[in-house]
Amino acid sequence: MTTPTRTGSIGTPVARIEGPLKVTGAARYAVEYPVENVAYAWVVQSPVPRGTLTGIDAPDDEDVLATLWHGNAPKLAKSRDPELLVLQSPRISYRGQVVALVVARTLEAARHAAQSVRLSIEVETHDAELAADHPHLYTPEKLNTGDPTDTSQGDVDAALREAATTVDVTYRTPALHNQPMEPHATTAFWVDDDLVLYDSNQGPSAIAKQVAGVFGLDVARVHVVAEHVGGGFGSKGSARPNAILAAMAARVVDIPVRLALPRQALFTMVGHRTPTIQRVRLGATADGVLTAIAHDVVQQTSTLHEYAEATAVVTRHLYAAPNRRTSHRMARLDMPTPRWMRAPGEAPGMVALECAIDELAASLAIDPIELRIRNEPDVEPEDGTPFSSRQYVECLREGAARFGWGSRDPRPRQRREGNWWIGTGVAGAIYPSMVMPSTASARIEPDGNVEVSVAAVDIGTGSRTILHQVAADALGIPLERVTVRIGDSALPKASIAGGSSGSASWSWAVDGACRALRERLTEPVPPEGLTATFDAGPAVKAREDAGKHAFGAHFAEVRVDADTGEVRVSRLFGMYAVGRVLNPRTARSQFIGGMTMGMGMALHEESVLDATTGDWVNHDLAEYHVPAHADVESIEAAWLDEDDPTVNPLGVKGIGEIGIVGSPAAIVNAIWHATGVRVRDLPVRLDKLL
Ligand code: MOS
Repeated sequence: MTTPTRTGSIGTPVARIEGPLKVTGAARYAVEYPVENVAYAWVVQSPVPRGTLTGIDAPDDEDVLATLWHGNAPKLAKSRDPELLVLQSPRISYRGQVVALVVARTLEAARHAAQSVRLSIEVETHDAELAADHPHLYTPEKLNTGDPTDTSQGDVDAALREAATTVDVTYRTPALHNQPMEPHATTAFWVDDDLVLYDSNQGPSAIAKQVAGVFGLDVARVHVVAEHVGGGFGSKGSARPNAILAAMAARVVDIPVRLALPRQALFTMVGHRTPTIQRVRLGATADGVLTAIAHDVVQQTSTLHEYAEATAVVTRHLYAAPNRRTSHRMARLDMPTPRWMRAPGEAPGMVALECAIDELAASLAIDPIELRIRNEPDVEPEDGTPFSSRQYVECLREGAARFGWGSRDPRPRQRREGNWWIGTGVAGAIYPSMVMPSTASARIEPDGNVEVSVAAVDIGTGSRTILHQVAADALGIPLERVTVRIGDSALPKASIAGGSSGSASWSWAVDGACRALRERLTEPVPPEGLTATFDAGPAVKAREDAGKHAFGAHFAEVRVDADTGEVRVSRLFGMYAVGRVLNPRTARSQFIGGMTMGMGMALHEESVLDATTGDWVNHDLAEYHVPAHADVESIEAAWLDEDDPTVNPLGVKGIGEIGIVGSPAAIVNAIWHATGVRVRDLPVRLDKLL
């Protein structure tokens, strides 16, 4: 497909602007920038989960420039994230914590020397295992999203006692790890007292601010470049230790330093999705009208830092019920801190809620789509605020029609073809429509070409492309007249690529800057050009967030081998209502990418804990299975028209995460429909079906 060359390119399937650069290898990633006289760093990680480092013994090697540990590392200033205060303390708080860094002339010398370092550690007993009855569960003050920890309305226990039917089930989701194609990496160098980082991240402005804080620098002295980024999924949404370590090492050896984390280090240094234990109780009338919903979650954090995943928050928004409750309890373990992973909270939370709803539908012999429709609220279920727009029922109905749900026999284990049991399943999708303050500038030259600048970032989503479309539209000029510069903290400050907020936030700023520029174009452009800037911050802060969500419905068809339990996903379909879609090509990629990750969550992905060592047993792509093309036969996404100008001026709700919300439950529900086996412990491996 060729790039449209016309005004009004929002809504057209423009191919990725940087596609040719990426496929020819011309696009530069964090450790690919040519830098003269560069040194290489390699991390030394703690082999124990808890203790005190009392000394290190580093062998002499003429290629080694420095071996840093807390005994000699430069002092850092401060950070709200204690994991960024690297090499400052003898305390070891988790296995895999960086306890030393070797810097050498070559990558090979750095790695070899790091592997030869001997550590003296006073080892302490540790606790790495989450359990529903963990003896030290506590109640966090609030969730990571800022939402309250617990909510309660009515009398859930009384309603459950009086309900015509109840469901009381516990679902477990395992720890998971983000697997961006490009592992976390940084090239760092200092120019006098200014720090330059080529760093793989989800937000150059935010990372510059964090790094500046750690080194006690004015943010203007830190320059973060992230022109191309090979995925992140949340794991690059804040600075990770690699950025700090590279900058610290460059200061010490006084030449540029490269630190590219090996894949295995991603399992300890950049976060994981917390495992969850989720009890869901539902009470309903014989007609399937919910009288009570309770969703109680147990999950983990580290001893260093609290990350309280908002797992049950979806249950506050999805279905009506007069009596309702959600809660989150946590254990502080001697483990790395859990962090964001695509739809943090919503993705695991919807597994429990949407599988429990399916169990209720089955127990009442009501079609699971019909049951959901019977519990559709008129206003936000917990606070009564109106919805800005909500097409959940429309997604269920239209999705069902397109998927071919109609003739489904609601009973499980009814359809067999050859050696395969076949089943279908459905689950809802919901994701908050967030925006964050961003600023952009637009400059037109006398030749009519426009350069737009915004410190946004494209982590593979197509954001660079849609911002070109937004700018061309706002200016009423052809796409090829526009160049949008992103991925650099020196550009006008912008929010991170996170919380599915990038398009809505950055397009607000870019649209505003381009409209402001257009208003000034009443006279010929002067020889020096004309610039306009726009700060969307005040308008973003004035936005009323209540009732703003994107919705969807996921449909899955699976077949399960009657002898081996092997699960094949023959069809996966997502029907969405996400406001305005700026580019159908990149939007579809986001949806099916999320659904693919949902399939991984349902069937493949699991970080297995060895509680005796406090380490993950599997820590590479050979043993942590992410889905491949062969794992799904048909995967497709579609969306409804939706016009909701209250979310942002372009009506964009955000699409990065909703594909992983509910899609795992649709697959798990389809497996039950195929086999009659309810697996409540993800992922659904074949041994659980036999
Ligand atoms: Mo996403 S987990 O908000 O980067």
